[in-house]
Amino acid sequence: MRSGGDAPVTVTHLTAPTDHRAQMIEDVRHGLTAYRKHLASKYFYDARGSELFDQITRLPEYYLTRAETEILSERADEIMKDVQPDELIELGSGSSHKTHLLVEAMYRSSTGRRYVPVDISEEALRTAASRLCDDYEWLEVEGLVGDYVPDLGKIRRRGRRIIVFLGSTIGNYVPTLRHSLLRSVADALEPGDGFVLGLDLVKDEPTMIAAYDDAQGVSAEFNKNILYVINRELGGDIPVDAFEHVTRFDRELACMAQSLRASREVVANIRALDLAVTFIAGEEIHTEVSCKFSKPQVEQEFDAAGMRLDSWFMDDGEGFAVAVASLQPPQEDSNLRQPN
Ligand code: SAH
Ligand code: AVI
Repeated sequence: MRSGGDAPVTVTHLTAPTDHRAQMIEDVRHGLTAYRKHLASKYFYDARGSELFDQITRLPEYYLTRAETEILSERADEIMKDVQPDELIELGSGSSHKTHLLVEAMYRSSTGRRYVPVDISEEALRTAASRLCDDYEWLEVEGLVGDYVPDLGKIRRRGRRIIVFLGSTIGNYVPTLRHSLLRSVADALEPGDGFVLGLDLVKDEPTMIAAYDDAQGVSAEFNKNILYVINRELGGDIPVDAFEHVTRFDRELACMAQSLRASREVVANIRALDLAVTFIAGEEIHTEVSCKFSKPQVEQEFDAAGMRLDSWFMDDGEGFAVAVASLQPPQEDSNLRQPN
């Protein structure tokens, strides 16, 4: 335990809160006036959304977190020994529950003592950062509140780094956005750094569907939370009870796709947008994709982003994987070769 008075946690905003709000206004206007209405899944995560996600991770149907924890419990030392980082940067760190395994392995493997969680949810970030600081007196925690999509390049380098992105959160991006995100991860790496990526794998449909439509209805509450966030942040009067949770497997994209379906015609006003939105009965607002992966696809996506797959670890059930990647070695440019 750290004694009181030490000041181990700093929390900094990568984006000014006013910019975040302006971005939200633009995104929500764009999404709710589109031909097929959609909202970005990053807006699920206010304090309640983060708490609901945490509840999801403990549901019997949501196998992802248990499988990833199993892998990290067995492989964290191996992963850290290969990289020996000075700092561990975690994208979308949330509750940082699994991070304990990585932080302890970092301590055993190297002199690295710095943990940099990055999350859009300030509440989740502060709670997790303080808990980690209480648990490990040697740990220096610099929490960064922000959107890792535009902000990744803003993170100051302090030595060799390992970037981790757990929970299959990469699956919340469609292929084109995933490619840009992986490119910006590659841009944030130097030779010798590592990237650890948690990935949910394609499996039988009933298992995947149950994970996003649990018997207790927590996934449904989580999905609807995005409407509460819009009502509160943007002065909306969307009647949340008029929407039902929908989830289906999209075979073409290999993803679970979540949406909210209006059970009747709804007209809602959103003050900050000066906008009235009409939803016809049965119309859906697309809220999230949760893409599922295979090893060849991940290898190909790393390759396209300038990285190479170094290790691939699966849980016993082979339903989830943790991939470790690094920058591709520079290609020898034949044009630059000197004639003998
Ligand atoms: N990594 C944790 C949490 C996953 S939930 C785990 O594996 O359990 C996804 C997390 O990413 C949430 O904490 C959410 O607030 C955060 N998040 C989602 N989109 C984000 C974005 N664009 N930028 C930063 N954080 C984001
Ligand atoms: C954070 N992310 C990887 C979760 C997922 O599985 O797509 C979010 C979630 N959505 C519904 N349940 C969980």
